[in-house]
Formats: sequence, structure tokens, C-alpha cells
Amino acid sequence: MDKKHIFITGGTSGIGLSLAEAYLKEGHHVGICGRDLSKIPEYMKDQYPFMHAYELDITDRNKVNEIIINFSKGRLDLVIANAGIASFKGNEIPDFDNVFGVINTNVLGVMSTIEASLKVMLPNHHGHIVVMSSVAGEIGLPRVGQYSASKAAVTKYCEALAIDLKKYNITISTILPGFIDTPLTKVNTHYMPFLMSSEKATRLIKKSIDNKKIRYVFPLRMKCLVYVLSIMPRGMYRQLMRLVTPTLA
Ligand SMILES: NC(=O)c1ccc[n+]([C@@H]2O[C@H](COP(=O)([O-])OP(=O)(O)OC[C@H]3O[C@@H](n4cnc5c(N)ncnc54)[C@H](OP(=O)(O)O)[C@@H]3O)[C@@H](O)[C@H]2O)c1
Repeated sequence: MDKKHIFITGGTSGIGLSLAEAYLKEGHHVGICGRDLSKIPEYMKDQYPFMHAYELDITDRNKVNEIIINFSKGRLDLVIANAGIASFKGNEIPDFDNVFGVINTNVLGVMSTIEASLKVMLPNHHGHIVVMSSVAGEIGLPRVGQYSASKAAVTKYCEALAIDLKKYNITISTILPGFIDTPLTKVNTHYMPFLMSSEKATRLIKKSIDNKKIRYVFPLRMKCLVYVLSIMPRGMYRQLMRLVTPTLA
């Protein structure tokens, strides 16, 4: 089997870590990164000789470029721009340190990842970039507007990029999960409709990547709910959200 070169940002926990293990089991060369490598389970370091872990904060544009290009050795088949942070301790009055942090990581960090990937993929006329967005980007969620805004930005950016880069044989995919049980959502105290296990989410995400789906929204019930919320009259949406928001606090 042809061993692919796969780089995953935010591979130290949650969805990124599970995806990394799934590709490592298939024998591919996998690069992962995060700010805290001690979160990677010890057994993975021993078990997978083709795993390369990099300490990297994706808000450092130069370092993202340096590390992804170095890892690739001139070949990159798949990059998953997965690293992201949430802001579920939101309040009505915005905390702008959190707002800037979320935008820096979830938007600019993703742009840097795409920039670095394209430096390798464009000359090769080959590659697949997958961006981990969220259904939260389909609506403006009260208290966590910065998270919604960050995911809306990358979803729309990738929608455009998928068209622009098709003729260069580069596929751009966007994945919009609902609530997945990972360290990111463990801190939530509010009700999370249709919460899915990380294992099941990883299987579904990997299948959509293997099939080169351009846009994948799941679970289906969350996809339907968010679609209805996104097309309903905006006055009705605001009223509904005012009613349910106290339960988010
Ligand atoms: N869980 C959900 O319900 C859900 C739903 C929709 C979308 N998503 C998206 O899915 C992605 C993965 O989330 P998850 O649930 O797996 O969360 P997670 O377990 O908290 O994992 C997030 C990963 O991102 C990394 N990361 C965060 N900031 C970083 C930075 N500045 N530089 C480098 N790495 C950074 C973290 O590593 P370090 O801490 O080591 O830096 C960690 O590996 C995120 O983009 C999230 O927005 C999650």
C-alpha cells in the first residue's frame, strides 16, 4: 500500500488524536502538532514509528510554515486543519481576550495551515486539505459569538477555495460536526443535543475524508436542526435563542 504523508493540527487530544491513530493503524506517515505534547498517550509513541509529533502553536504563522514544509519532505497527501479552541464560558459582555484568542486560533491558525500546505501541494498538483469547522458556524450562537464567527469564516473561506483550487487538483473539504464528546465539550455544563462519542465521530469523519466529500455535516438530526434555525425568520430565531440561552450559561 502507498504510504501517505498526512499532517493533522491539534493531534494531541480529541478528534485530531483519534484521527491520527486511525491513519497510523493503516501505516501512513502522520505528523501531529499541539502546544502540549505531554497529552499524547505514551503507548502511541512506542507503538507507531511513523508518528512525528511537533510542539507548535498554530498562531505562529512562520513556525506553522516551517514545520509543515519540513514534515512533508516535498510530499503532502492530506492535511487536516483540526486545531481549535472553544469559548463555552461565555457571557453577555464579551471577553475580548477570549474573542481575539478564538479568532487567532480558529481562523488565522487555519489560514496559516492552508498556506503551508499549499506551498507543498500546488507545485505537485496534488493534495487534500480538510478543515474542521462546526455547525456553530451556521448560526450566531449567543454568548459564544466568537466561536460561531470563527467557524463561519473558515466554512465560507473553504467553500470558495474548493472552487478556486479544483483545477490544480487540490481538494478542499469542510467538516461541520455537532456536539462530540471530547475534552473540548467535557467542560460544558449545558445540555448538548445529539452528543456523539468521539469514536463514532472519528469513524464518520474518516469515511467522509476517504470519500473526499467536499462538505460533511453530522449528525443528521443536528444538521436538520441547524438548517431550520438558519432559515427561520431572524426575529423568530432571536426570540427562540433568548428563551433557550439561560440554559447555556
Ligand atoms: N468537540 C466538539 O463538539 C466539536 C464540534 C464541532 C467542531 N469541533 C472542532 O473540532 C476540532 C477539534 O476539537 P476537539 O473536540 O477534538 O477538541 P480538543 O480535544 O480540545 O482538541 C483540540 C486540539 O487542538 C489543539 N490546539 C488548540 N489550540 C492550538 C494552538 N493554538 N496551536 C496548536 N494546537 C492547538 C489542542 O492541542 P494543545 O492543547 O496541545 O495545543 C488539541 O490537540 C476543533 O477545531 C473544534 O472547534 C469540535
